[in-house]
Amino acid sequence: MANLTQQMIEEAAAYIETKTALTPEIGLILGSGLGVIGDEVEESVTIPYADIPHFPISTVEGHAGELVIGRLQGRVIVLMRGRFHMYEGYEPERTAMPVRVMKRLGAKSLLVTNAAGGINLNFASGNLMLISDHINLSGRNPLVGPNDNALGARFPDMSDAYTRRLRAIAKETAAELGIGLQEGVYVGLLGPNYETPAEIRMLRVLGGDAVGMSTVPEVIVARHAGMEVVGISCITNMAAGILDQPLSHEEVMETTERVKSEFVSLVLALLPKL
Ligand code: 6GU
Repeated sequence: MANLTQQMIEEAAAYIETKTALTPEIGLILGSGLGVIGDEVEESVTIPYADIPHFPISTVEGHAGELVIGRLQGRVIVLMRGRFHMYEGYEPERTAMPVRVMKRLGAKSLLVTNAAGGINLNFASGNLMLISDHINLSGRNPLVGPNDNALGARFPDMSDAYTRRLRAIAKETAAELGIGLQEGVYVGLLGPNYETPAEIRMLRVLGGDAVGMSTVPEVIVARHAGMEVVGISCITNMAAGILDQPLSHEEVMETTERVKSEFVSLVLALLPKL
């Protein structure tokens, strides 16, 4: 299994390397609606996931499903426009496989973004939240199975998963831009349904500030691979039971659209400092 995975990573990376001479330093995973950042990449090559050997194919609307490699803010980046979710039916290691490919291509750090529901009562829809840490409540883990020591340790340390260094840089950057930035713990669930109000009360007691259905498998794999991680959530809505209104994917997309320019500015300003 481990050997098969490594061969799959190698074949995916080798294919990508036939499309560009650039060696990416930074990996970006963009949540729904933030794919526009891909349009700003210079000297770019865009590779549909469907063309890359062993890559899963994204099934959710609003997730384009392509890899963009090029220069952005003076840095060479590899960007995922659209990501894979475990609720789509992918095994966790397949969900996070592109991160291993990014690492194999040369990426030393990973910038992840996502849409999340606000659990913290001090948050409001439209806030951006720097991820200080996460709680994996998905019941799944991409590292299950034989460990390939060439990829990373059997028992990876997660004590500084969203590194203090990059969090300090993110806060400093947001302050310089005059962009408000909350900070908190992201709870990753399997989905695909949004939580019940009782589940949200439970997650608040457990120390969660925001909840979503992505990011955790990618970050686990990135840390396993020794990459530095910085994560930003867009609080697209308050979670169930907080406001007297139902939750919908439409609201998630609408809020993302509303704060997109701010979100994009922050991500762009962050890149040169990573
Ligand atoms: Cl409230 N829950 C989950 N799991 N994911 C979300 C969300 C809520 N809002 C946006 N994404």
